[in-house]
Amino acid sequence: MSKNILLVSGDGIGPEIMLEARKVLDVVDAKFGLDLQFDEALVGGAAIDATGVPLPEESLAKAKASDAILFAAIGGPKWDNLSANLRPEQGLLGIRKHLDLFANLRPAILYPQLAEASSLKADRVAGLDILIVRELTGGIYFGQPRGIRVNDSGDREGFNTYVYSEPEIRRIGRVAFEAARARGGRVCSVDKANVLEVTMLWREVMTDLAKEYPDVQLSHMLVDNAAMQLVMRPKQFDVMVTGNMFGDILSDTAAMLTGSIGMLPSASLDKNNKGMYEPCHGSAPDIAGQNKANPLAMMLSASMMLRYTFGEVAAADAIEAAIGNVLDQGLRTGDIYSEGTTMVSCVEMGDAVVAALQNA
Ligand code: IPM
Ligand code: MG
Repeated sequence: MSKNILLVSGDGIGPEIMLEARKVLDVVDAKFGLDLQFDEALVGGAAIDATGVPLPEESLAKAKASDAILFAAIGGPKWDNLSANLRPEQGLLGIRKHLDLFANLRPAILYPQLAEASSLKADRVAGLDILIVRELTGGIYFGQPRGIRVNDSGDREGFNTYVYSEPEIRRIGRVAFEAARARGGRVCSVDKANVLEVTMLWREVMTDLAKEYPDVQLSHMLVDNAAMQLVMRPKQFDVMVTGNMFGDILSDTAAMLTGSIGMLPSASLDKNNKGMYEPCHGSAPDIAGQNKANPLAMMLSASMMLRYTFGEVAAADAIEAAIGNVLDQGLRTGDIYSEGTTMVSCVEMGDAVVAALQNA
């Protein structure tokens, strides 16, 4: 059965890393007989330039019709002065919301070869394997009312609403507990329950849900402490579950522990495991068009897609093994470079992964 994949290359380094991921997908397609079919859509700044809006109807329709979406990165200084609802980011947030992709899985895994590239001492991060489960379609990112208004004193004020319903908390909690079952058996729920009512409810619901998972150990942590613990003793964590904004922040921190945010893939899934797969990093406008970007998180996102949405475990394993192989060869893009390794370009990194796949 053919697998319809929508490619969204987006802005900045997006098109460059997408090309490399596509090369890798073409190899595993042929090798494992996957029958991958590709279509493309404009989202973000590229869509604004072409159509005036960050998420054209046609792109949303294609996203809904596809089996999975591979998303590179969007945004850049060119579009920074647009009003909030016309910024490139709205394209990404719109797809997440319209497709109800509420479960964002962000694994932070340290490749042993990259221990030197981590901002922490090697012994603090050796063997690091954290899964951040971030709620993606609710919380302060989407709460109403929101806006910028003039208050009674005549001053402008910006406001957003941080809201979670009990079912929203429960469904993301389930994803975290199920994931923990298949890994280390521990969930740390991150909140700000000492101040915010919304997360007092979050904590209460997580505690209640834990009764259904007696084999999983639940702990709670305040978000400020969690940020500190992540850079102090990151290996204490197995699965972390948290809301949209805290998850955004903590996942960037966890990413850096692994050497570079250029190594981190993510999956955003709906209740049927249909999903969008994207690297955790952004569009890196400072290095766009220079053939310097690290395409590995994009390839790892493609591999997550094969694993989660299509159940093509062997093909996913092959991509990950090939990436391990090029790292073993000492090949590094600039973001993961350390002394004694070989610096390569984005295209060279792609070619090396393709070669490793073909020789496997
Ligand atoms: C992420 C990004 C997005 C987010 C931006 C681009 C809207 O930072 O996926 O982590 O905040 O969710
Ligand atoms: Mg982010």
